[in-house]
Order: sequence, then structure tokens, then C-alpha cells
Amino acid sequence: MINISILGGSGYAGGEIIRILLNHPQVKIQQVTSRKFAGREVSLVHPNLRKLTDLTFIHPEKLSDCDLLFVALPNGDSMGIMKDLQKKAKKIIDLGADFRLHDAKTFTHWYQKEHLASTLLPKFVYGITELHRADLKKASFVACAGCEATVSILTLYPLIKHKIIKEKVIIDAKMSSSQAGMSPSLSTHHPERAGVVRSYMPSGHRHTAEIEQELSVFNKLEVAISATAIDMVRGLLVTIHTIPKDGMEEKDVWKAYRAEYKGEPFIRIVKELQGIYRYPEPKILQGTNFCDIGFELDKATNRLVLIGAIDNLVKGTAGQAVQSMNVMYGFKETTGLMFPGLHPI
Ligand SMILES: NC(=O)c1ccc[n+]([C@@H]2O[C@H](COP(=O)([O-])OP(=O)(O)OC[C@H]3O[C@@H](n4cnc5c(N)ncnc54)[C@H](OP(=O)(O)O)[C@@H]3O)[C@@H](O)[C@H]2O)c1
Repeated sequence: MINISILGGSGYAGGEIIRILLNHPQVKIQQVTSRKFAGREVSLVHPNLRKLTDLTFIHPEKLSDCDLLFVALPNGDSMGIMKDLQKKAKKIIDLGADFRLHDAKTFTHWYQKEHLASTLLPKFVYGITELHRADLKKASFVACAGCEATVSILTLYPLIKHKIIKEKVIIDAKMSSSQAGMSPSLSTHHPERAGVVRSYMPSGHRHTAEIEQELSVFNKLEVAISATAIDMVRGLLVTIHTIPKDGMEEKDVWKAYRAEYKGEPFIRIVKELQGIYRYPEPKILQGTNFCDIGFELDKATNRLVLIGAIDNLVKGTAGQAVQSMNVMYGFKETTGLMFPGLHPI
């Protein structure tokens, strides 16, 4: 049994860690922080947890030592305090962006600020288990991937590794509102956000850097993301347009996915000939740790279209973090993570 605490437990990602870990037999949740809600019940902010926990929030200043600390603060807030946090916990899993990129200069380029703890960057393992399982087994510090990066990397990696793609990767991401976190702003205000199909970032998305970092190990390809905010609370869908190498057939794509994902518990190749759910769809992944991947080879236009879907708050962050934890501690990798989702929803 390990004692874990959550820094930033009143946020959307923190709430999902609590939900998942309340059903984890090898974990005890020791403390959960919030400055705004210190002293109040966790279920006040996360009402889905009523009668499942009597935890109350504590102020971050009262954080005690624990075995593993989940850090679920807004991007940019963990690097300044990471050295102090490492005195409180032997192992740390950071859900934010601060330690995802190995190179401080690349971080500064994409995040427009100096890195405050660049000497710690080499200590962090990038938290996508499917790519870094062996390193995670030995890791003390993990940086979970961004949600667009997670679904894009998982969808692309076998095809890039097996050299199916010739050039250019254009990722069209459809984003949900929970990706923005719990703090309200004008752009998340209901009258402005409801009903939108809004081009949020047609170019220059920061997750490009993570995708390039992880995939250029296999093959250097130009990657571009266009992100669009749509009217959905949870979930993330990427449609990725690529040009396949000459002579590629669908069986080559199947082969690459099977080679990498045959034994992966959370990756499902979804390509049905019948029914309404023929391709991946975020709606039926809500609350689950699955990443569904589909594809279509369009010979007429020489395009290989890839489709990936996740729940941004689970496989895209909190579930991914728990999966990493399970690997780090040698627990069964799927523990706490096998919720199958709901249908209809
Ligand atoms: N939302 C997603 O879909 C998603 C997906 C992938 C990755 N992530 C990552 O997960 C992290 C958390 O995201 P989120 O969406 O859960 O954010 P959020 O809903 O805004 O929650 C942030 C949490 O941090 C606390 N906090 C904020 N500033 C703090 C500070 N200076 N010191 C201590 N606590 C502070 C907040 O509570 P108090 O203000 O009350 O202290 C709250 O509990 C982010 O780094 C994000 O990149 C999120």
C-alpha cells in the first residue's frame, strides 16, 4: 500500500485522479490540496464523489511527506517549486507541461518563458506508457503528456516507426471545454463557448513540440496541428492527414498497428464495416482510459487518414498518470483503470 497526495486536487485533472484512485486497492489517498477550498469537503467540488470519500482539502502549505505526489497545477506552476516538492515525495508525477520537453531552449521557444528548473529535466520520463514502459519501471519522476500530444503520438507512432508515412503530418484536433481547466475566462463563459465550432489555434500549437520530440526518434517528419474548440465537455478527437509511401496497402497499416499494440490493454483499433460506431468517437470513451484508433487509406487522393480519440481527462492526463504509477510500482498496469465507459451516453 502506498500513500499518495495530490497537489491541485480541486481541478478537473486532480478530481479524476481521486475518482480513479478511490477504487485502487494498493493506494491510500493521504492529502488533497486546494487554496480556495481548504477545509472544505472534496465532494463539494467533485460531487460525483459524494459518499465515496470523506476527504477534505488542505492548503498546499500543509502538504506532508508521502510516497508519491501527483502534481496537477496549471502549466508553468510546478517548475519553480519542484525542488522543494522532491523533498516531500520519493516519486512525483507531474501532469503539467513543465517537464515534458527534454530541452530547456525548446521549452522557452514554445512557452515563451525561461525554464526555472532545467537541471531537473533529464530526470523526468515522458509519461506515455506504451512508448516508455521500460523507463517508467525505473522512474522516480514522470511528466505526463499533453492531451493532444497523447492521442496524436499514440495514433502516429506505429506508422512512423514502421515507415508507412512518406511526408507531412497534419493533425486536425477537435477540443472539448474541460481541456481549459476549472478557472473561468471570457472564452469559456457559457454564452461565448456553448454551440461553438471555433478555430482556436489553426497553427502554432504547443503540443507540436512534444509530438516532434517523441516521434523524431523514429523518423523526422513535418508535424502541424490545427485545433478547433467544439461544443463538448469531455473528449478529444484527432483526424490526421498524411501522405503514405508509394505502394502502401491497408494491410501494411494493420500490420504496423498490430506489431506495436497487440498486447496493449488500452489501445483499440476501431475500423468496423457496419454499425454507427465505425471509427473512434470520444463520446463513448468518457471516463475511460482507452485510446481508440482508426484509419482509412484513400487511394484516389493518395491520403492516409488516421483517427484517434480519447477522454482528455483520463487517457489524456489522470488515467495516463495512474497507468504510469502502476508501472512505476510494479502494480498490475490496468488496476483502477478498467472502467468500460457508458453506452448510450
Ligand atoms: N484539463 C485537461 O483536459 C488536461 C489534459 C492534459 C493535461 N492537463 C494538465 O493537468 C494540469 C491541471 O489541469 P486542470 O485542467 O486540472 O487545471 P485546473 O482545473 O485549473 O486545476 C488546477 C488546480 O491547481 C490548483 N492551483 C492553481 N494554482 C495553484 C498554485 N499556484 N499553487 C497551488 N495550487 C494551485 C487549483 O486549486 P486552487 O486554486 O484552489 O489552489 C486546482 O486544484 C495542467 O497542467 C494541465 O496541463 C489537463
